[in-house]
Amino acid sequence: MARIFIISNRVSVPKSNAHPGGLEVVLKATLKHHPCVWLGWSGEVKPHPRTRTVNSHGNSYITTDLSPEDFEEYYNGFANRVLWPILHYRLDLAEFSHRDLSGYLRVNEHFADQLAKVLKPADIVWVHDYHLIPLAKALRTRGLMNRIGFFLHIPMPPPEIIAAMPNHETLIPALCHYDLVGFQTHGDAANFARYLANELGTPAHISRRLGTGDRVMRIGTFPVGIETREFTRLARRAVRSELVQEVSKSVPGALMIGVDRLDYSKGIILRLEAYERFLAAHPERQGKITYLQITPRSRSQIREYADIEQAVSAMAGRINGAYSNAAWAPVRYVNRAYSRTALAGLYRTARVGLVTPLRDGMNLVAKEYVAAQDAADPGVLILSRFAGAAVEFKEGALLVNPYDPDSVAAAMARAIAMPLAERKSRHAALYATLLTNDISKWGDRFLSSLMGTKTFDLEAAEKQTQWPDPANLLPH
Ligand code: G6P
Repeated sequence: MARIFIISNRVSVPKSNAHPGGLEVVLKATLKHHPCVWLGWSGEVKPHPRTRTVNSHGNSYITTDLSPEDFEEYYNGFANRVLWPILHYRLDLAEFSHRDLSGYLRVNEHFADQLAKVLKPADIVWVHDYHLIPLAKALRTRGLMNRIGFFLHIPMPPPEIIAAMPNHETLIPALCHYDLVGFQTHGDAANFARYLANELGTPAHISRRLGTGDRVMRIGTFPVGIETREFTRLARRAVRSELVQEVSKSVPGALMIGVDRLDYSKGIILRLEAYERFLAAHPERQGKITYLQITPRSRSQIREYADIEQAVSAMAGRINGAYSNAAWAPVRYVNRAYSRTALAGLYRTARVGLVTPLRDGMNLVAKEYVAAQDAADPGVLILSRFAGAAVEFKEGALLVNPYDPDSVAAAMARAIAMPLAERKSRHAALYATLLTNDISKWGDRFLSSLMGTKTFDLEAAEKQTQWPDPANLLPH
């Protein structure tokens, strides 16, 4: 029986501490309905890396440790000091070194070696995110002709930005070794098509089907969603939890909430600046609104992340220093992670959800905030127009430009004062959008597109697997 191989940097191994957040949720249905093997980093850094396999509910989880050099060069280095900033349009933050690039390629080769040992010809391979761009090429070089798909969870910027990345001309075209390359939005997909047109000379109108002979690389758009109804039920239950009750009781007036990894792409500084302007412009709201910012630390060994941590806490401290009184502080800034349940309850309690990244592939906090609301008395979502979620949420959210703190401050004032009827109609529109793109169908949509079929059926997919001539692969 064919299997689906999921390859990602982080792996969610059942009954372990490794839970890569969003990825676990988006892959849940695929893991439940098909036999899968999930392969990636164990999350451990060891001088003598080991590989372990865990079997659970018909799936296998193969994880491998990283050596300190691999961790530094592949994870902290090329993936998060070059690809992450550049794909988030932050050329100014990219720090390129040839050593990091070779570490990145080495880890990809290592994953390819691991896969080559266990992959059977009819297995389907689904690779996730920017850590593993060259993996298909590494597999093809080993003679593996399986169907291989790639999904980029983060943005794909315009070619003018990608072209500033050293070695982009070998790295980015390596995506053509996949059979399907998926993006969050049409804008991301179009940027990639334009990159190929510019760099490989492929006429833009045929860039969506690139290849020769039997193999064709296709580009598709697969916006990730959430388990909408399940999250609503979770939030309904969670508001009764002790934590959520305590938070509600301790907040005088309304709550605004932001939940982000501590990352410069999330726009937390500018959001705080907007809040400061809002407090200054609306003295009547002082003491009647509290902004809770939950921000677990992330990638702390990278300088830019340490810098942003300092800057955010200084800014939160400054606002509290200027506006607090003995009974109230305008900002609650928390650096710890909360369970999905606790977050669901807090979202439901918050009158305003603040999701204002400077650039974001999708942003599932925006979607979860909407799903968590009480339809009879819903909160308002303030959403950056630069989050992928803005494409689907144009109608119901208050879309803002996160670079313009005055307009974000105005949106805060509007959200807090919004009448119930408007809140309800906006929420209804957002909720309907969520239901049409529920995550339970996402995996099968990607996989059926990878197989070029209308619906996804692993057995049928196995029968139609064909083996093209490797000489026909593009580019060489
Ligand atoms: C983003 C990326 C994921 C990544 C996650 C957490 O959502 O798209 O691939 O796993 O951030 O980052 P970390 O570096 O902690 O894995």
